[in-house]
Amino acid sequence: MADKPTLTSSSGKPYPTNETSQTAGPRGPLMMQDHYLMEKLAHQNRERIPERVVHAKGWGLQGAFTVTHDITQYTCADLFSEVGKQTEVLSRWSTVAGERGAADAERDVRGFSLKFYTEDGNWDMVGNNTPIFFVRDAFKFPDFIRTQKRHPKTNMRSPEAMFDFWAAQPESVHQVTILMSDRGIPRSPAHMNGYGSHTFSMWNKDGVRHWVKFHFKTQQGNEWYSDDKAAEIIGQTRESYQEELWNMVQDGKYPKWKLFIQVMTEEQAMETEFNPFDLTKVWPHGDYPLIEVGELVMDTIPENYFQLVENAAFNPNNVVPGIGFSPDKMLQARVMSYADAHRYRIGTHYEALPANAPKKAKVNHYHKDGAMRFFTNDFGNPNAYYEPNQYDGPVADPRAEEPPLKIDPDAVVARFEQEESEIDYVQPRALYAEVFNDEERDRLHKNMAGGMAPVSDSVKERWLAVLKKVHPDYEAGVRKALETGDHGDPSLPVTDNTPLQAAE
Ligand code: NDP
Ligand code: HEM
Repeated sequence: MADKPTLTSSSGKPYPTNETSQTAGPRGPLMMQDHYLMEKLAHQNRERIPERVVHAKGWGLQGAFTVTHDITQYTCADLFSEVGKQTEVLSRWSTVAGERGAADAERDVRGFSLKFYTEDGNWDMVGNNTPIFFVRDAFKFPDFIRTQKRHPKTNMRSPEAMFDFWAAQPESVHQVTILMSDRGIPRSPAHMNGYGSHTFSMWNKDGVRHWVKFHFKTQQGNEWYSDDKAAEIIGQTRESYQEELWNMVQDGKYPKWKLFIQVMTEEQAMETEFNPFDLTKVWPHGDYPLIEVGELVMDTIPENYFQLVENAAFNPNNVVPGIGFSPDKMLQARVMSYADAHRYRIGTHYEALPANAPKKAKVNHYHKDGAMRFFTNDFGNPNAYYEPNQYDGPVADPRAEEPPLKIDPDAVVARFEQEESEIDYVQPRALYAEVFNDEERDRLHKNMAGGMAPVSDSVKERWLAVLKKVHPDYEAGVRKALETGDHGDPSLPVTDNTPLQAAE
């Protein structure tokens, strides 16, 4: 008894018991004054916070990033300032559509979030395991996500909605091809690549800007599950990713990635045939080779999942001097959207929680008060609570300003719809015809057919017409698998098998 700590209430009062309610006699009712019991029940009622509106199911580790190659010609970012420099990192990988209790081995895109705790504040790389995305205008994002979530009446996932939407956005065929390829069900987060996906910028100490893409390449190899294997695994465990990461770290087989960048000059960006700020396009490696930067090693299981992974607030607007945004309008919308999501999901001072608070930079701002303001920010002088002031309060740092961005002098403000064109089919065609081998194409046909099997004929034909524009063999392969039934069960999770009424 003597060597155990005393159990207390949250205000520090010793608890008389943690098992027995106070009642009026052994058979009598509860006493209202048993606030110990009230506190315990009330806390239980507040144990959950809203799950993320997307990417609700996730897995996280802690580790570090080490620079192995000099890229100071491209960036003055402190974390890349010298070879050998190490920065602490928190990761969170996720599936997009499933809820918090979803099975891990479902076919879906995976989120790939990294928070680098740098000396200039946190840099968040909030990417995916795919180098591109389904849509290129943020206006379409909420509708896209709605098609991935549950149908309002059936309360089931709806392939009809998914393919109906994709068929109307042919630019999505590049990402859907990756989703339905082998990489659509990675074996675990350790067995997939991470991509910043968007074009970002870097600027060096002379203020010269380059456009960049980030690639984190798995050192474990890209491994994946077939639909049948995934179904078998889900039958045994819904937590296969958490188990695999846990076992890897416990066994000392720490997951590793190499970071590469691709670089494009501002002048090159004006001349590319494709729009380098279009999130449905990659930059071909042949034209923009990968440049090695460093190594990420994730070697620690967070002590408390809720505190460090569920409470983690990754935010594309967390950039550091030397790294910036680009004109990609999806990225620009994300820069506005995430902090709003965090304020709703976690609360006003979400950045002060242990997962999100900078570890290497001191936080100095003039934001005041609000719920949960449990930290001090009076800079040692309570008079410095507004700006400008003569009391040595913090002042802005021009280093953080991006170099001026040249824009087309003839540009006008309008809504520029990027209409479907042949350019949208060039890269998925290269993936289909040149990157995949015969076996990979065959599995793609069957995975796609499995996913499409339950949808209405009109949606099937509209999507097959999109595939035909990518490559006639693509359409023919999927059609054949559909007609012969030579495919697995619908490969997307929890489906409604009755097609919804298509509009006449
Ligand atoms: P490369 O031959 O240099 O690159 C092909 C890329 O395809 C490799 O990065 C490879 O990744 C990746 N890949 C292989 N299998 C799959 C799969 N099942 N799903 C997704 N990616 C896969 O040619 P290009 O750079 O000219 O690109 C050709 C096409 O490859 C592109 O149109 C695009 O569809 C796809 N791709 C291109 C990427 C890029 O950044 N350029 C990145 C990923 C895909 P790895 O090396 O890791 O095995
Ligand atoms: C999570 C919005 C596109 C990757 C989220 C969240 C929102 C959101 C609101 C939940 C945040 C939270 O509650 O913590 C959007 C919008 C997009 C968009 C509006 C388009 C305009 C993308 C793209 C990528 C991406 C293109 C990848 C390249 C992620 C990841 C998470 C996430 C990885 C989970 C972060 C974590 O692990 O906590 N997104 N998103 N999103 N998004 Fe996006």
